[in-house]
Amino acid sequence: MPVAIITGASSGIGAALAHELGRRKWKVGVIARRADLLDTLVAEVRAAGGEAAAATADVTDRAGLEAAVAALEATLGACDLLVANAGSGQPAPMHKIPVETILSTMRLNFDGAVYSAAAVLPGMLERKRGHVAVVSSVAANRGLPGHGAYSASKAAVSTLWEAMRVDLRGHGIACTTIHPGFVATPLTEKNKFKMPFLLTAEQAAVIVADGLEGRVAEITFPWQMRWVARLMRALPIWLWDRMAPKR
Ligand SMILES: NC(=O)c1ccc[n+]([C@@H]2O[C@H](COP(=O)([O-])OP(=O)(O)OC[C@H]3O[C@@H](n4cnc5c(N)ncnc54)[C@H](OP(=O)(O)O)[C@@H]3O)[C@@H](O)[C@H]2O)c1
Repeated sequence: MPVAIITGASSGIGAALAHELGRRKWKVGVIARRADLLDTLVAEVRAAGGEAAAATADVTDRAGLEAAVAALEATLGACDLLVANAGSGQPAPMHKIPVETILSTMRLNFDGAVYSAAAVLPGMLERKRGHVAVVSSVAANRGLPGHGAYSASKAAVSTLWEAMRVDLRGHGIACTTIHPGFVATPLTEKNKFKMPFLLTAEQAAVIVADGLEGRVAEITFPWQMRWVARLMRALPIWLWDRMAPKR
């Protein structure tokens, strides 16, 4: 059975993906800070006939994260698939957001993903096989007003993964960038605005698992959001500045 390690798996997309991969006969290693939620998740995956193990870590703490990955690999076996999913964001316009919030968003969404990849890549390079995925966002396509720090952090991981995908071609390691649209999770439940094409975390997990098993370069979903993403990128600056959603 192949081994998947998912960060940010205590709730939302990460937890749903752990269930979905467990059902598809992957051994699943889950990482987050809330140990109680991870323990419940592991028990549920096992009760459904799967194999799972948990390790707590803050993804912004490189040494702690590496220890968690090493503990999971010791229990489940070498990591075949990493999903750097841990992430979050606090909406605020740029004239109100504290500088520290911008930097802490980068630490979680960018540094955390880099540390996660760095924890598994040496082993994958040695074995000449593996797969490293990151959960970015449709928000990576353009600087979204009110979400500048989040958009910037997601643009950074998407750009890094794009370069890494080509760098690692020929080393047997696939790279996947995941761009979700709106998914109903604790992250989005505080949103006051109407979220178009909203999916459940379970629906998202099926789409993500299908793409990961196909080792595709990019998973942007739902399909309507692929067109939204293309349109966002294509709009000239003057039109974007008029049309960009202000929240
Ligand atoms: N929901 C959406 O519509 C949507 C859209 C686009 C992209 N995304 C991305 O999808 C990913 C998952 O988000 P979600 O919507 O499923 O939200 P969520 O339910 O809030 O999940 C976030 C996960 O990240 C973990 N996490 C947060 N800070 C962490 C840290 N410092 N160290 C380790 N783990 C940490 C949380 O666990 P602990 O608190 O237990 O550590 C939790 O398991 C994020 O990267 C998010 O940006 C979501």
